Amino acid sequence: ADGDAAKGEKVFKKCQACHDVGANAKNKVGPELNGIVGRKIASIEGFKYSPAMIEFGAGDKVWDEATLTTYLHNPKEAIPKNKMAFVGLKKDDDLSDVIAYLSQFNED
Ligand code: HEM
Repeated sequence: ADGDAAKGEKVFKKCQACHDVGANAKNKVGPELNGIVGRKIASIEGFKYSPAMIEFGAGDKVWDEATLTTYLHNPKEAIPKNKMAFVGLKKDDDLSDVIAYLSQFNED
């Protein structure tokens, strides 16, 4: 809620090898992240999610600030066997900042 989007743009450099966001964003190693805050988990058509991620999203669950924070802090602990090969963001500010950055790409 109180993240700094400009700082979050720098944090997002850690994600960019695998994720696109913004106009014409495409799936890479990971799915494109437009509208991720509030987006249904594991819902990008044509992206091959792990069974663990599909199961985590069962019941039309969506990503919100709380689930994103927990996942991005420690992906392997939050969702065992998900296939995002990323150690996580260990600083609270980095987490809120990158979420603030990503929420700029919601269509509203
Ligand atoms: C999945 C964010 C870094 C690869 C996801 C999802 C989010 C996310 C929100 C779930 C997407 C959905 O449900 O559609 C981020 C952020 C990162 C980051 C914010 C940086 C802080 C990375 C890196 C890689 C990566 C560095 C590659 C080495 C993946 C993959 C998935 C995924 C493969 C699918 C996981 C699965 O299906 O189990 N990421 N990610 N991500 N990400 Fe990342």
